[in-house]
Amino acid sequence: MSEAKSTILVTGGAGYIGTHAVLALKRAGYEVIVLDNLVYGHRELVEDVLQVKLIVGDTNDRTLLDELFATHNIAAVMHFAAYIAVGESVVEPGKYYRNNVTGTLTLLEAMVAASVKKFVFSSTCAVYGEPQKVPIPEDHPYNPMSPYASSKLMVERILADFDVAYGLKSVIFRYFNAAGAEPTGLLGEDHNPETHLIPLVLLAALGKRESITILGTDYPTPDGTGVRDYIHVCDLADAHVLGVKYLLKGNNSEIFNLGNGNGFSVREVIETGKAVTGRDFKVVESDRRPGDVPVLVGSSDKAKQNLGWSPQYLDLREIVMHAWQWHQKRHE
Ligand SMILES: NC(=O)c1ccc[n+]([C@@H]2O[C@H](COP(=O)([O-])OP(=O)(O)OC[C@H]3O[C@@H](n4cnc5c(N)ncnc54)[C@H](O)[C@@H]3O)[C@@H](O)[C@H]2O)c1
Repeated sequence: MSEAKSTILVTGGAGYIGTHAVLALKRAGYEVIVLDNLVYGHRELVEDVLQVKLIVGDTNDRTLLDELFATHNIAAVMHFAAYIAVGESVVEPGKYYRNNVTGTLTLLEAMVAASVKKFVFSSTCAVYGEPQKVPIPEDHPYNPMSPYASSKLMVERILADFDVAYGLKSVIFRYFNAAGAEPTGLLGEDHNPETHLIPLVLLAALGKRESITILGTDYPTPDGTGVRDYIHVCDLADAHVLGVKYLLKGNNSEIFNLGNGNGFSVREVIETGKAVTGRDFKVVESDRRPGDVPVLVGSSDKAKQNLGWSPQYLDLREIVMHAWQWHQKRHE
């Protein structure tokens, strides 16, 4: 099969990062099929905007997966499907282990049975826990502090075992905070419930939320608020295409951080939100949230060196601007 005609199965391809990855794959010349149970995904983005085949189904459905692999010539799987709310995972851990771990295991077993052995996995910087040094490198010790983070680390370990046992090669991407939107307003972030800072700020600017709450103003950071690494979703999507190419070339399994490399504080994000939208909104200062760390910034040097990844949108203002274009279109 020639690389340009390869078909890539994208699970969770109706979600935020998945839709952007589908677009990047299409632009790179790949055929794409999306598998999404639409619990959180958006059918119209896949079928109308991206115009890609959508199979509505669950990664826990082995019968469906066997049929899917038998009827399509899949070269690699990009796996975004997961539940993503850290707080919810603490109160409903079983939901997260069943979906994120068991669902992934079912998918991996179906892949092995169908001899599909290239896998790109969405992991998270949350596997590191409280950083012992920043920027965080990939060999930093693990300390997942929620069932969500544990579910991702468990899959990472399953992938290492599947490589040894079956030769299934994977690229694991540990993202920092995905942010922004497709620059022309075609795609963007629409989580419900929304827990991410930039969309929350923009929803406040749109009057869809009463206020924004800063959780902690006494951190040992320049302005006292938490500092995070925001990586543009299109840069994440480009890394995924490079990850697929890397695997299709026959390379070995690898783990890469994907981050901006620069940290931005909560206050900076709020001020940038006000500047970009030209709108004011109420900001409430509150206590720290248990488990939050002062600074979470990653080193992505390994992805740059090994994959030739070159993120394009590192400026916070540009990231917020792209998200704002999408939010205005979606909500006004
Ligand atoms: N958004 C971030 O900042 C971030 C950071 C680190 C890692 N990640 C990871 O990236 C991936 C995508 O995140 P997102 O922000 O696009 O989330 P999202 O909720 O927008 O997308 C996930 C998609 O997966 C689908 N889905 C969930 N479980 C499924 C299942 N069992 N079978 C089929 N479809 C299923 C949902 O309907 C949804 O469309 C997730 O694995 C997440 O853990 C995200």
